[in-house]
Amino acid sequence: MRKIRVQPGSNSYDICVGAGILEQIGQLLREIGCQGKVVIITDTTVKGLYGVTLQDSLSAEGFSVSLLEIPPGEAQKSLETARQLYDDLSALYAERSTPVLALGGGVVGDLAGFVAATYLRGMPLVQIPTTLLAQVDSSIGGKVAVDHGRLKNMIGVFYQPRLVIADVGVLKTLDARELGNGLAEVIKYAVISDGGFFAYLENNLDRIKALDPAVLEEVVAKSAEVKARVVEKDERDTGLRNILNYGHTTGHAIEAVSDFAIAHGEAVAIGMVVAGEISHRLGMLSIGELERIARLISRAGLPARLPTLDVDKLIEAMKHDKKVSRGKVKLVLARAIGDVFVTDEVGLSLVEEVLRNEAT
Ligand SMILES: NC(=O)c1ccc[n+]([C@@H]2O[C@H](COP(=O)([O-])OP(=O)(O)OC[C@H]3O[C@@H](n4cnc5c(N)ncnc54)[C@H](O)[C@@H]3O)[C@@H](O)[C@H]2O)c1
Ligand SMILES: [Zn+2]
Repeated sequence: MRKIRVQPGSNSYDICVGAGILEQIGQLLREIGCQGKVVIITDTTVKGLYGVTLQDSLSAEGFSVSLLEIPPGEAQKSLETARQLYDDLSALYAERSTPVLALGGGVVGDLAGFVAATYLRGMPLVQIPTTLLAQVDSSIGGKVAVDHGRLKNMIGVFYQPRLVIADVGVLKTLDARELGNGLAEVIKYAVISDGGFFAYLENNLDRIKALDPAVLEEVVAKSAEVKARVVEKDERDTGLRNILNYGHTTGHAIEAVSDFAIAHGEAVAIGMVVAGEISHRLGMLSIGELERIARLISRAGLPARLPTLDVDKLIEAMKHDKKVSRGKVKLVLARAIGDVFVTDEVGLSLVEEVLRNEAT
Protein backbone atom coordinates (compact mmCIF):
# COMPACT_ATOMS: atom_id res chain seq x y z
CA MET A 1 0.00 0.00 0.00
CA ARG A 2 1.18 3.52 -0.77
CA LYS A 3 0.31 6.59 1.23
CA ILE A 4 0.24 10.07 -0.24
CA ARG A 5 0.08 12.89 2.25
CA VAL A 6 -2.04 15.88 1.23
CA GLN A 7 -1.39 19.10 3.10
CA PRO A 8 -3.82 21.82 2.13
CA GLY A 9 -4.06 24.97 4.25
CA SER A 10 -6.63 23.33 6.51
CA ASN A 11 -6.51 19.70 7.68
CA SER A 12 -4.01 17.33 6.14
CA TYR A 13 -4.85 13.74 5.29
CA ASP A 14 -3.52 10.57 3.65
CA ILE A 15 -4.60 8.97 0.41
CA CYS A 16 -4.01 5.21 0.73
CA VAL A 17 -3.70 3.33 -2.55
CA GLY A 18 -3.39 -0.43 -2.90
CA ALA A 19 -5.03 -3.66 -4.06
CA GLY A 20 -7.34 -5.32 -1.55
CA ILE A 21 -7.04 -2.59 1.09
CA LEU A 22 -10.80 -2.44 1.64
CA GLU A 23 -10.21 -5.32 4.03
CA GLN A 24 -7.83 -3.22 6.12
CA ILE A 25 -10.20 -0.34 6.52
CA GLY A 26 -11.07 -0.95 10.15
CA GLN A 27 -7.43 -0.73 11.07
CA LEU A 28 -6.84 2.36 8.89
CA LEU A 29 -9.76 4.11 10.61
CA ARG A 30 -8.36 3.26 14.02
CA GLU A 31 -5.05 4.82 13.02
CA ILE A 32 -6.79 8.18 12.53
CA GLY A 33 -8.56 7.88 15.87
CA CYS A 34 -12.00 6.63 14.82
CA GLN A 35 -13.96 4.29 17.06
CA GLY A 36 -17.54 3.28 17.90
CA LYS A 37 -20.26 4.13 15.42
CA VAL A 38 -19.67 4.73 11.69
CA VAL A 39 -22.13 5.38 8.86
CA ILE A 40 -21.51 4.13 5.33
CA ILE A 41 -23.24 6.00 2.49
CA THR A 42 -23.24 4.12 -0.81
CA ASP A 43 -25.34 3.36 -3.87
CA THR A 44 -27.22 0.11 -4.49
CA THR A 45 -24.79 -1.11 -7.17
CA VAL A 46 -21.68 -0.61 -5.06
CA LYS A 47 -23.42 -1.94 -1.96
CA GLY A 48 -24.16 -5.18 -3.83
CA LEU A 49 -20.52 -5.51 -4.86
CA TYR A 50 -18.52 -4.30 -1.86
CA GLY A 51 -20.92 -3.49 0.97
CA VAL A 52 -20.45 -6.77 2.79
CA THR A 53 -16.63 -6.70 2.55
CA LEU A 54 -16.58 -3.23 4.03
CA GLN A 55 -19.10 -3.98 6.77
CA ASP A 56 -17.28 -7.18 7.76
CA SER A 57 -13.93 -5.44 7.88
CA LEU A 58 -15.36 -2.73 10.14
CA SER A 59 -17.28 -5.09 12.40
CA ALA A 60 -14.17 -7.24 12.86
CA GLU A 61 -12.39 -4.19 14.26
CA GLY A 62 -15.23 -3.52 16.70
CA PHE A 63 -17.02 -0.72 14.86
CA SER A 64 -20.79 -0.45 15.02
CA VAL A 65 -21.82 -0.04 11.38
CA SER A 66 -24.90 1.49 9.75
CA LEU A 67 -25.37 1.66 6.00
CA LEU A 68 -27.42 4.21 4.07
CA GLU A 69 -28.12 3.48 0.45
CA ILE A 70 -29.21 5.61 -2.50
CA PRO A 71 -29.97 4.60 -6.11
CA PRO A 72 -27.02 5.04 -8.49
CA GLY A 73 -26.81 7.99 -10.89
CA GLU A 74 -26.15 11.72 -11.16
CA ALA A 75 -29.84 12.49 -10.43
CA GLN A 76 -29.15 11.61 -6.77
CA LYS A 77 -26.74 14.53 -6.40
CA SER A 78 -29.60 16.70 -5.22
CA LEU A 79 -30.76 18.61 -2.17
CA GLU A 80 -33.74 16.22 -2.00
CA THR A 81 -31.47 13.20 -1.56
CA ALA A 82 -29.29 15.15 0.88
CA ARG A 83 -32.41 15.95 2.91
CA GLN A 84 -33.33 12.25 3.00
CA LEU A 85 -29.84 11.42 4.24
CA TYR A 86 -30.10 14.11 6.96
CA ASP A 87 -33.32 12.41 8.11
CA ASP A 88 -31.60 9.02 8.09
CA LEU A 89 -28.60 10.33 10.05
CA SER A 90 -30.94 11.87 12.56
CA ALA A 91 -32.85 8.57 12.95
CA LEU A 92 -29.49 6.84 13.59
CA TYR A 93 -28.60 9.40 16.28
CA ALA A 94 -25.42 10.20 14.37
CA GLU A 95 -23.20 12.62 16.24
CA ARG A 96 -20.73 15.25 15.14
CA SER A 97 -17.92 12.77 15.83
CA THR A 98 -19.51 9.92 13.83
CA PRO A 99 -17.44 9.22 10.70
CA VAL A 100 -19.26 9.18 7.36
CA LEU A 101 -17.76 6.69 4.90
CA ALA A 102 -18.53 7.57 1.26
CA LEU A 103 -18.30 4.27 -0.63
CA GLY A 104 -18.80 4.72 -4.37
CA GLY A 105 -18.05 6.80 -7.43
CA GLY A 106 -17.96 10.57 -7.71
CA VAL A 107 -21.70 10.89 -7.25
CA VAL A 108 -21.65 9.21 -3.85
CA GLY A 109 -18.43 11.02 -2.90
CA ASP A 110 -19.79 14.47 -3.76
CA LEU A 111 -23.21 13.87 -2.18
CA ALA A 112 -22.09 12.06 0.98
CA GLY A 113 -19.26 14.58 1.30
CA PHE A 114 -21.76 17.45 1.12
CA VAL A 115 -23.97 15.80 3.73
CA ALA A 116 -20.98 15.10 6.01
CA ALA A 117 -19.79 18.70 5.61
CA THR A 118 -23.12 20.22 6.53
CA TYR A 119 -24.90 17.91 8.99
CA LEU A 120 -24.16 19.05 12.55
CA ARG A 121 -21.72 21.57 10.98
CA GLY A 122 -19.43 18.82 9.83
CA MET A 123 -18.74 15.16 10.55
CA PRO A 124 -15.45 13.34 9.80
CA LEU A 125 -15.48 12.27 6.15
CA VAL A 126 -13.69 9.22 4.75
CA GLN A 127 -13.71 8.85 0.99
CA ILE A 128 -13.66 5.27 -0.32
CA PRO A 129 -13.73 5.88 -4.09
CA THR A 130 -14.69 2.89 -6.24
CA THR A 131 -14.46 4.25 -9.80
CA LEU A 132 -11.16 5.15 -11.46
CA LEU A 133 -12.44 8.70 -11.89
CA ALA A 134 -13.26 8.98 -8.21
CA GLN A 135 -9.90 7.47 -7.18
CA VAL A 136 -7.82 9.89 -9.25
CA ASP A 137 -10.04 12.94 -9.24
CA SER A 138 -13.26 13.52 -7.30
CA SER A 139 -12.18 12.07 -3.92
CA ILE A 140 -9.16 14.39 -3.75
CA GLY A 141 -9.24 18.12 -3.24
CA GLY A 142 -12.16 18.69 -0.89
CA LYS A 143 -14.84 19.86 -3.32
CA VAL A 144 -18.21 18.46 -2.30
CA ALA A 145 -21.52 19.48 -3.82
CA VAL A 146 -24.97 18.71 -5.10
CA ASP A 147 -26.47 19.81 -8.41
CA HIS A 148 -29.16 22.45 -8.70
CA GLY A 149 -31.61 21.55 -11.45
CA ARG A 150 -29.54 21.09 -14.60
CA LEU A 151 -26.64 23.08 -13.21
CA LYS A 152 -23.91 20.83 -11.87
CA ASN A 153 -22.21 21.29 -8.50
CA MET A 154 -23.97 24.60 -7.81
CA ILE A 155 -24.47 24.08 -4.09
CA GLY A 156 -21.40 22.98 -2.25
CA VAL A 157 -18.49 23.69 0.04
CA PHE A 158 -14.81 22.94 0.38
CA TYR A 159 -14.48 20.17 2.94
CA GLN A 160 -11.39 18.02 3.24
CA PRO A 161 -11.75 14.31 4.02
CA ARG A 162 -9.93 12.80 6.99
CA LEU A 163 -8.75 9.89 4.87
CA VAL A 164 -9.05 8.57 1.30
CA ILE A 165 -8.87 4.82 0.72
CA ALA A 166 -8.49 3.83 -2.94
CA ASP A 167 -8.61 0.05 -3.36
CA VAL A 168 -7.64 -0.58 -6.99
CA GLY A 169 -9.01 -4.13 -6.66
CA VAL A 170 -12.57 -2.81 -6.91
CA LEU A 171 -11.93 -1.47 -10.41
CA LYS A 172 -12.30 -5.01 -11.81
CA THR A 173 -16.11 -4.66 -11.83
CA LEU A 174 -16.18 -1.30 -13.64
CA ASP A 175 -17.43 -1.34 -17.21
CA ALA A 176 -15.13 -0.21 -20.01
CA ARG A 177 -16.82 3.16 -20.44
CA GLU A 178 -16.41 4.06 -16.76
CA LEU A 179 -12.78 2.94 -16.86
CA GLY A 180 -12.27 5.15 -19.93
CA ASN A 181 -13.72 8.12 -18.06
CA GLY A 182 -11.04 7.75 -15.43
CA LEU A 183 -8.29 7.03 -17.95
CA ALA A 184 -8.93 10.36 -19.67
CA GLU A 185 -8.14 12.14 -16.40
CA VAL A 186 -5.07 9.93 -15.87
CA ILE A 187 -3.73 10.91 -19.31
CA LYS A 188 -4.50 14.54 -18.43
CA TYR A 189 -2.37 14.30 -15.26
CA ALA A 190 0.53 12.95 -17.30
CA VAL A 191 0.25 15.73 -19.89
CA ILE A 192 0.09 18.50 -17.29
CA SER A 193 2.84 17.27 -15.04
CA ASP A 194 5.30 14.70 -16.14
CA GLY A 195 6.73 13.35 -19.39
CA GLY A 196 8.07 10.32 -17.51
CA PHE A 197 4.57 9.40 -16.32
CA PHE A 198 3.27 9.85 -19.88
CA ALA A 199 5.91 7.40 -21.17
CA TYR A 200 4.97 4.99 -18.36
CA LEU A 201 1.35 5.10 -19.56
CA GLU A 202 2.46 4.47 -23.15
CA ASN A 203 4.50 1.47 -22.06
CA ASN A 204 1.90 0.00 -19.71
CA LEU A 205 -1.45 0.80 -21.28
CA ASP A 206 -2.21 -2.83 -22.07
CA ARG A 207 -1.51 -3.82 -18.47
CA ILE A 208 -3.77 -1.00 -17.27
CA LYS A 209 -6.57 -2.23 -19.50
CA ALA A 210 -5.98 -5.76 -18.22
CA LEU A 211 -6.33 -4.32 -14.68
CA ASP A 212 -2.92 -5.48 -13.50
CA PRO A 213 -3.03 -4.53 -9.78
CA ALA A 214 0.59 -3.38 -9.54
CA VAL A 215 0.28 -1.10 -12.56
CA LEU A 216 -3.09 0.25 -11.39
CA GLU A 217 -1.58 1.03 -8.01
CA GLU A 218 1.22 2.99 -9.68
CA VAL A 219 -1.18 4.83 -11.99
CA VAL A 220 -3.69 5.77 -9.28
CA ALA A 221 -0.97 6.75 -6.80
CA LYS A 222 0.87 8.89 -9.34
CA SER A 223 -2.34 10.58 -10.55
CA ALA A 224 -3.53 11.21 -7.00
CA GLU A 225 -0.16 12.71 -6.21
CA VAL A 226 -0.35 15.11 -9.16
CA LYS A 227 -3.80 16.31 -8.11
CA ALA A 228 -2.80 16.49 -4.45
CA ARG A 229 0.25 18.66 -5.19
CA VAL A 230 -1.89 21.08 -7.21
CA VAL A 231 -4.82 21.34 -4.78
CA GLU A 232 -2.68 21.78 -1.70
CA LYS A 233 -1.20 24.90 -3.27
CA ASP A 234 -4.64 26.20 -4.25
CA GLU A 235 -7.13 24.80 -1.74
CA ARG A 236 -9.95 27.18 -2.66
CA ASP A 237 -9.53 27.07 -6.43
CA THR A 238 -8.31 30.60 -7.03
CA GLY A 239 -5.76 30.03 -9.78
CA LEU A 240 -3.30 27.13 -9.99
CA ARG A 241 -6.06 24.51 -10.03
CA ASN A 242 -6.92 25.78 -13.49
CA ILE A 243 -4.22 23.58 -15.00
CA LEU A 244 -6.35 20.59 -13.94
CA ASN A 245 -8.76 21.81 -16.61
CA TYR A 246 -6.51 20.77 -19.49
CA GLY A 247 -8.87 19.51 -22.22
CA HIS A 248 -11.89 20.64 -20.22
CA THR A 249 -12.78 23.94 -21.95
CA THR A 250 -13.72 22.20 -25.18
CA GLY A 251 -14.63 19.06 -23.23
CA HIS A 252 -17.40 20.74 -21.24
CA ALA A 253 -18.77 22.31 -24.43
CA ILE A 254 -18.77 18.92 -26.21
CA GLU A 255 -20.58 17.27 -23.30
CA ALA A 256 -23.22 19.99 -23.23
CA VAL A 257 -23.77 20.17 -27.00
CA SER A 258 -24.06 16.37 -27.23
CA ASP A 259 -26.68 16.61 -24.48
CA PHE A 260 -24.38 14.42 -22.37
CA ALA A 261 -24.52 11.52 -24.87
CA ILE A 262 -20.73 11.95 -24.97
CA ALA A 263 -19.38 11.05 -21.53
CA HIS A 264 -17.15 13.42 -19.57
CA GLY A 265 -13.96 11.43 -20.16
CA GLU A 266 -14.64 11.05 -23.88
CA ALA A 267 -15.29 14.78 -24.20
CA VAL A 268 -12.13 15.61 -22.26
CA ALA A 269 -10.15 13.21 -24.46
CA ILE A 270 -11.23 15.12 -27.58
CA GLY A 271 -10.66 18.40 -25.73
CA MET A 272 -7.06 17.40 -24.93
CA VAL A 273 -6.34 16.82 -28.62
CA VAL A 274 -7.99 20.14 -29.53
CA ALA A 275 -5.91 21.97 -26.88
CA GLY A 276 -2.81 20.15 -28.18
CA GLU A 277 -3.56 21.19 -31.76
CA ILE A 278 -4.05 24.82 -30.70
CA SER A 279 -0.77 24.68 -28.78
CA HIS A 280 0.97 23.25 -31.84
CA ARG A 281 -0.43 25.92 -34.14
CA LEU A 282 0.84 28.56 -31.75
CA GLY A 283 4.34 27.16 -32.18
CA MET A 284 4.56 25.19 -28.93
CA LEU A 285 3.76 21.47 -28.65
CA SER A 286 5.67 19.59 -31.38
CA ILE A 287 3.77 17.55 -33.96
CA GLY A 288 5.46 14.42 -32.62
CA GLU A 289 4.19 15.04 -29.07
CA LEU A 290 0.73 15.99 -30.33
CA GLU A 291 0.59 12.67 -32.16
CA ARG A 292 1.74 10.79 -29.06
CA ILE A 293 -1.12 12.34 -27.07
CA ALA A 294 -3.70 11.47 -29.73
CA ARG A 295 -2.32 7.94 -30.07
CA LEU A 296 -2.40 7.23 -26.34
CA ILE A 297 -5.98 8.51 -26.17
CA SER A 298 -7.04 6.22 -29.03
CA ARG A 299 -5.22 3.23 -27.56
CA ALA A 300 -7.07 3.89 -24.29
CA GLY A 301 -10.31 3.38 -26.22
CA LEU A 302 -11.20 7.06 -26.09
CA PRO A 303 -12.12 9.30 -29.03
CA ALA A 304 -9.39 11.62 -30.31
CA ARG A 305 -11.44 13.27 -33.05
CA LEU A 306 -14.40 15.58 -32.79
CA PRO A 307 -17.63 13.79 -33.69
CA THR A 308 -20.14 15.53 -35.94
CA LEU A 309 -21.26 18.33 -33.67
CA ASP A 310 -22.30 21.81 -34.63
CA VAL A 311 -19.18 23.99 -34.21
CA ASP A 312 -21.29 27.14 -33.81
CA LYS A 313 -23.05 25.50 -30.88
CA LEU A 314 -19.70 24.51 -29.35
CA ILE A 315 -18.53 28.11 -29.52
CA GLU A 316 -21.85 29.28 -28.04
CA ALA A 317 -21.45 26.77 -25.20
CA MET A 318 -17.96 28.10 -24.43
CA LYS A 319 -19.32 31.63 -24.32
CA HIS A 320 -22.10 30.47 -22.02
CA ASP A 321 -19.55 28.75 -19.78
CA LYS A 322 -17.84 32.17 -19.44
CA LYS A 323 -14.73 30.77 -21.11
CA VAL A 324 -14.80 33.56 -23.69
CA SER A 325 -14.37 37.27 -23.13
CA ARG A 326 -13.52 40.03 -25.61
CA GLY A 327 -13.12 37.42 -28.36
CA LYS A 328 -10.46 35.52 -26.38
CA VAL A 329 -10.79 32.03 -24.90
CA LYS A 330 -9.48 30.85 -21.54
CA LEU A 331 -7.53 27.65 -22.18
CA VAL A 332 -4.82 25.43 -20.77
CA LEU A 333 -2.12 24.99 -23.42
CA ALA A 334 0.92 22.71 -23.61
CA ARG A 335 4.47 23.80 -24.40
CA ALA A 336 5.40 20.12 -24.26
CA ILE A 337 4.15 16.95 -22.60
CA GLY A 338 4.58 17.70 -18.90
CA ASP A 339 4.64 21.48 -19.30
CA VAL A 340 1.34 23.38 -19.45
CA PHE A 341 0.11 26.87 -18.63
CA VAL A 342 -3.15 28.78 -18.46
CA THR A 343 -3.90 31.62 -20.83
CA ASP A 344 -6.91 33.77 -21.63
CA GLU A 345 -5.30 35.22 -24.73
CA VAL A 346 -6.16 32.67 -27.42
CA GLY A 347 -8.26 34.18 -30.19
CA LEU A 348 -11.69 32.65 -30.59
CA SER A 349 -11.10 32.49 -34.36
CA LEU A 350 -8.17 30.08 -33.89
CA VAL A 351 -10.25 27.84 -31.63
CA GLU A 352 -13.03 27.87 -34.19
CA GLU A 353 -10.60 27.06 -37.01
CA VAL A 354 -9.19 24.07 -35.13
CA LEU A 355 -12.67 22.81 -34.25
CA ARG A 356 -13.82 23.07 -37.87
CA ASN A 357 -10.70 21.29 -39.04
CA GLU A 358 -11.01 18.55 -36.39
CA ALA A 359 -14.65 18.06 -37.28
CA THR A 360 -13.98 17.26 -40.93
N1 LIG B 1 -15.48 16.74 -6.36
C1 LIG B 1 -14.72 16.83 -7.42
O1 LIG B 1 -13.65 17.44 -7.41
C2 LIG B 1 -15.14 16.12 -8.68
C3 LIG B 1 -14.22 15.95 -9.73
C4 LIG B 1 -14.63 15.24 -10.86
C5 LIG B 1 -15.91 14.73 -10.94
N2 LIG B 1 -16.78 14.91 -9.90
C6 LIG B 1 -18.15 14.36 -9.95
O2 LIG B 1 -18.05 12.95 -10.02
C7 LIG B 1 -19.27 12.46 -10.59
C8 LIG B 1 -18.93 11.34 -11.56
O3 LIG B 1 -18.30 10.31 -10.86
P1 LIG B 1 -18.15 8.84 -11.47
O4 LIG B 1 -17.66 8.95 -12.84
O5 LIG B 1 -17.41 8.04 -10.49
O6 LIG B 1 -19.67 8.37 -11.63
P2 LIG B 1 -20.69 7.62 -10.64
O7 LIG B 1 -20.44 7.94 -9.25
O8 LIG B 1 -22.04 7.89 -11.20
O9 LIG B 1 -20.33 6.09 -10.89
C9 LIG B 1 -20.56 5.54 -12.16
C10 LIG B 1 -21.34 4.22 -12.06
O10 LIG B 1 -20.44 3.19 -11.65
C11 LIG B 1 -21.01 2.44 -10.58
N3 LIG B 1 -19.88 1.95 -9.81
C12 LIG B 1 -19.13 2.63 -8.91
N4 LIG B 1 -18.10 1.88 -8.52
C13 LIG B 1 -18.18 0.70 -9.18
C14 LIG B 1 -17.39 -0.48 -9.19
N5 LIG B 1 -16.27 -0.59 -8.49
N6 LIG B 1 -17.80 -1.50 -9.99
C15 LIG B 1 -18.92 -1.38 -10.76
N7 LIG B 1 -19.69 -0.30 -10.78
C16 LIG B 1 -19.33 0.73 -10.00
C17 LIG B 1 -21.92 3.39 -9.88
O11 LIG B 1 -22.94 2.70 -9.20
C18 LIG B 1 -22.46 4.23 -11.05
O12 LIG B 1 -23.57 3.58 -11.63
C19 LIG B 1 -19.98 13.64 -11.21
O13 LIG B 1 -21.10 13.98 -10.43
C20 LIG B 1 -18.94 14.75 -11.15
O14 LIG B 1 -19.52 16.03 -11.00
C21 LIG B 1 -16.41 15.60 -8.79
ZN1 LIG C 1 -12.70 15.99 -15.67
